[in-house]
Amino acid sequence: MADGQLVWSAHWECEFNWKVLLENFMEAYHHMGAHMKTLEPFLPARGCWTESYDPEFSAMHLPLKDTMKQEILASGDPGTPLPIFPGLEIKDCTEWWVFLGFPNFLLFSAPDRVYWYRLLPTGPETCSLMTTMILPKSATQIPNYEDILKKEIQSGIDFHMEDMEVCTATQRGLNSVAYAQGRLSHLEEPIWHFQKYLAEVIKRSQSYS
Ligand SMILES: [Fe+2]
Repeated sequence: MADGQLVWSAHWECEFNWKVLLENFMEAYHHMGAHMKTLEPFLPARGCWTESYDPEFSAMHLPLKDTMKQEILASGDPGTPLPIFPGLEIKDCTEWWVFLGFPNFLLFSAPDRVYWYRLLPTGPETCSLMTTMILPKSATQIPNYEDILKKEIQSGIDFHMEDMEVCTATQRGLNSVAYAQGRLSHLEEPIWHFQKYLAEVIKRSQSYS
């Protein structure tokens, strides 16, 4: 990513708590619902898995669907619309991943692009978000770069709009008198990591007071 270049950003004022977006960002369970037509067809929720808990971060692997994975490994061609980041091997091109550096450093990355979400709380039920896209510098040199970029920005906006809808509905749900906590799926393990981190922070702040 040291080679990366920020090529696009968009600013969003959101009507939900920052942790609602963060938790949505970090789990893959909702791919099969909210992103049924955008992400689920190539990043199926079922195959996702999470690295063990670390006090500093949480990372989830989002493997491509099996047929795509096999094709990439057999052909040695990453099959990405844009050039991949330098230093990646073909085996690294068979998955995307999401990364959270506690508390609010968010990356959604593919071999050929990284979405960096800059998330700031602005109130108990509002937050400010800047979505950005980072590409390898070599991407700007390829033929039809402008057309491909336009298409990839649009697909980033498309799945983001699906998340905005879900997050707004989640905030509404949190305010409902019918709200009750439920169990997490194993596909939501990063949420458990984040809550563990928050519990540690609260514990630390209580021992200081
Ligand atoms: Fe999402």
